[in-house]
Amino acid sequence: MTAKDEIDASRPHPARVYDYWLNGESHYEADAVAAERVVRVWPGVVMGARLNREFMHRVTRWLVGEAGVRQFLDIGTGIPTEPNLHQVAQAIAPETRVVYSDNDPIVLRHAKKLLAGAPEGRTAYLHADFTEPGAILDAPELRETLDLNRPVALSLIALLHFITDERGAYEIVRSLMDALPSGSYLVVSHATADFDPDLLTRVAEAYQSTVAEGQIRSSSEVNRFFDGLELVDPGVVVAHRWRPEGGEAQPDITDAEFPVYGGVARKP
Ligand SMILES: C[S@@+](CC[C@H](N)C(=O)[O-])C[C@H]1O[C@@H](n2cnc3c(N)ncnc32)[C@H](O)[C@@H]1O
Repeated sequence: MTAKDEIDASRPHPARVYDYWLNGESHYEADAVAAERVVRVWPGVVMGARLNREFMHRVTRWLVGEAGVRQFLDIGTGIPTEPNLHQVAQAIAPETRVVYSDNDPIVLRHAKKLLAGAPEGRTAYLHADFTEPGAILDAPELRETLDLNRPVALSLIALLHFITDERGAYEIVRSLMDALPSGSYLVVSHATADFDPDLLTRVAEAYQSTVAEGQIRSSSEVNRFFDGLELVDPGVVVAHRWRPEGGEAQPDITDAEFPVYGGVARKP
């Protein structure tokens, strides 16, 4: 699917369905119906969407505060939900630059909210499809905002389970990381069926039949995205267990309740 410009309100779209779970306001009736169908199968999806955002916040704070990263390429950004990545990053280092990208026209429509950042930093929005990495890397929005001779964090949060192996998920990640210099990072969060296969089969049926195709991956398949990179401790773990602030992940949430892996790795 390439990045088109028209919004089709009659069919559910991933960004708008996710917006419904996050209690946002940028979705239509068809999205709400599809989102509720998943909620009936997996009531924890609403909490999962929130925990996934919190993973993005923690990783971004770590990358800026601990690893010194000042440039981000966030693909599969979604409809703006505060705080957005640039707000988290620029609260620590106002000079941070962020390029956001998504293929859904509704994200394009709301992109202005992603462009209002700290005056010292810069943000840009690129309407593009992840499956066309060459177009993303060559886009003026990216070239005018990021210096590809300096480290960049490639942030793919809850995106890769929409991209099947057949569509080249691994090759695309590799080609994007190949274009970034040593000291760059890859961030991934990704749904898995490792803990409750029956649940994920039902979720995939409810979601993929109406919203979008995709591919749920196992721990080893998610780890494969990081081949050739140095995983940051604690490696690929259920995302709310990735460097929890205060030292401990929320103890009452089991892996089966939030079946989403998260990981961060550095390009040597
Ligand atoms: C579940 S949302 C995640 C949003 C955000 N990254 C987050 O985690 O809060 C997935 C996003 O990926 C986008 N997406 C799906 N397939 C895509 C593709 N081929 N190219 C670009 N974006 C895509 C959807 O439009 C949607 O905004």
